[in-house]
Amino acid sequence: MTEKEFIPSPYKIDVPSGKTTYKSPSNIALVKYWGKKANQIPANPSISFTLNECATVTTLTYSKLEKESKAFSFEVSLEGKKEEGFKPKINTFFKRVYEYLPFLREYHFEIETSNSFPHSSGIASSASGMSALALCLMDIEKSLNPDMTVEFFNQKASFLARLGSGSAARSIKGSLVQWGEHAGIKGSSNLFGIEYPHKVHPVFQNYCDTILLVDKGQKQVSSTVGHDLMHGHPFAQQRFSQAHENLSKLESIFASGDIKNFIAIVESEALTLHAMMMTSQPYFILMKPNTLEIINKIWAFRESSKTHVCFTLDAGANVHVLYPENEKAQVQQFIKDDLASFCQNRQFIHDFIGNGARKIN
Ligand code: DP6
Repeated sequence: MTEKEFIPSPYKIDVPSGKTTYKSPSNIALVKYWGKKANQIPANPSISFTLNECATVTTLTYSKLEKESKAFSFEVSLEGKKEEGFKPKINTFFKRVYEYLPFLREYHFEIETSNSFPHSSGIASSASGMSALALCLMDIEKSLNPDMTVEFFNQKASFLARLGSGSAARSIKGSLVQWGEHAGIKGSSNLFGIEYPHKVHPVFQNYCDTILLVDKGQKQVSSTVGHDLMHGHPFAQQRFSQAHENLSKLESIFASGDIKNFIAIVESEALTLHAMMMTSQPYFILMKPNTLEIINKIWAFRESSKTHVCFTLDAGANVHVLYPENEKAQVQQFIKDDLASFCQNRQFIHDFIGNGARKIN
């Protein structure tokens, strides 16, 4: 697939107005996307578990304008309140995707969005938010061009979501989603995410992720600034190669259910992501003292309990605690007893692997 194949031929049907709703999940990267080229092309391939509970629901109401507008015509609201602050980001997104969705200037849009997780919890809403919006837009395109296949619909939704936020490309379809060209993964693409095509052992099904809300404050580094730090970073090339290698190693790990080596890669990826931030110019430390307390507690508990609990991190202080479903009772007790005290207001969210976005009627 090339970018050009996502440019539609003239639409055959006229749709004066309509409304569509999608619920789209967040995802947690196991091999991290950190660093990008022009047009949201990732500097290295990544892979993530799709989450189930942390999600955005977006309703897009659209009505045809009398004539095409020069500026995009839209309003946005979050949890029922007008949200002017979201407009620049959506405007940039519309500009980036206009070539692929030429109907964008023909309609007025009301975008109503709400998140299942607390706003400003430090949980990135860009993956779920941008994928939900991309899916709503694809739903409109499908009504203008009903012949489109499901496969194309999902691919283009991921392609568009990527142009909004890279990680959003991994929030459309599947429980384990890979994005970015990798020599060992057939069908992998820099343009959109794909369902991981290789064998996955049942131990990774229903895998659990409890998100510990360590710091709910404003992000110190926006992801745009963060990715930029990889330009001219002294360890960038090494890091990008490492991501390729880790994806190669994961193939046999996923197939055989080798959780021990899964943990070694996932935790190393998380720490590498933060190491990249600590060794860039300017440099940042996004972990908080409690992030480190939690990591040490997890290591000690894993050793003493012989469970397979591990952690990963986003570009922030919150900790994602990952564990297999058959250890759920024991690990969740440990989280409540030993980790909750390191969270702001003892807040955490139990989540698990989901199957991707869905349309809500
Ligand atoms: C650390 O997808 O938020 O979560 O493309 O600039 O919107 P933009 O970046 P974004 O970056 C996510 C970075 C990460 C790792 C990951 O999810 O792979």
